[in-house]
Amino acid sequence: MFYRIIYMSTANGNPEQAELEALMQRARRNNERDGITGLVAYHDFTFIQVLEGPEDNVRACFDRIRDSKLHRNIILVYEAHTGARLFDRYAMAFVPSADRNRPVNTAFTNLRNLFDGDIGKRLETDVAAEGFLRAFYDTMRGL
Ligand SMILES: Cc1cc2nc3c(=O)[nH]c(=O)nc-3n(C[C@H](O)[C@H](O)[C@H](O)COP(=O)(O)O)c2cc1C
Repeated sequence: MFYRIIYMSTANGNPEQAELEALMQRARRNNERDGITGLVAYHDFTFIQVLEGPEDNVRACFDRIRDSKLHRNIILVYEAHTGARLFDRYAMAFVPSADRNRPVNTAFTNLRNLFDGDIGKRLETDVAAEGFLRAFYDTMRGL
């Protein structure tokens, strides 16, 4: 069994691309060590991250992430045990901000709207969350 956490947060300022790349390099090293995979997307002052792996490691990683000064308003939108990873090839896929009309950012905006809205409040118990995530992931994979 794996554990999956999804959160979104608000960036403190507009982080430089180089800053985000450096962050991801460290994150990937840690995640490879800890058996954590996932995705982090940044767009329009918002991060959305999926973390999945052994429960203890995922929780410890999330605790460190919460402490980062790069963001605030960390909102846990989903957490659940899961039999399979969605992102089994990525120690942490990174989707940077780009043209807001690219399909990936349309997917991002849709996902954020979901999490911001009423559905977000129900996601923790809603099996449909898996479906939304899968659609999001499929869009990413098509990049
Ligand atoms: C949006 C965001 C995503 C992050 N994702 C990860 C991650 O997936 N794995 C990780 O180890 N650290 C991640 N971090 C960094 C942690 O907050 C923390 O700085 C880092 O884990 C400390 O690693 P170190 O002990 O190697 O310095 C993230 C930070 C932010 C702001």
